[in-house]
Amino acid sequence: MAYSEKVIDHYENPRNVGGFDKNDPSIATGMVGAPACGDVMKLQLKISDAGIIEDAKFKTYGCGSAIASSSLVTEWVKGKTLDEAAGIKNTDIAEELALPPVKIHCSILAEDAIKAAIADYKQKKGLV
Ligand code: FES
Repeated sequence: MAYSEKVIDHYENPRNVGGFDKNDPSIATGMVGAPACGDVMKLQLKISDAGIIEDAKFKTYGCGSAIASSSLVTEWVKGKTLDEAAGIKNTDIAEELALPPVKIHCSILAEDAIKAAIADYKQKKGLV
């Protein structure tokens, strides 16, 4: 199976790799795993008091498509509100990266990571 150029670009030059201190109150952490393949993705968001995502970092132990998907979403979420970020769909990611059907679950992992990070933030802030 051939990876698309965009996947290879993100895989070779991943954006925003790393992490923040998860105990910092402005940091939201989403950690998700794909049961199908065992790949794991951690996405962290730095959120302003106004609810804007100011920064994002990821660490992904997984396939090229999962790394590319998480790299892409760290770029997409910056500057967005939590609601806007929650609206990012795996189909948007899969389309942008031209993922083949067998790699769709890798983009679902990235969508789930965003949702998990937002849920973590709301829990931290007592919003749920
Ligand atoms: Fe499982 Fe890509 S093969 S996340």
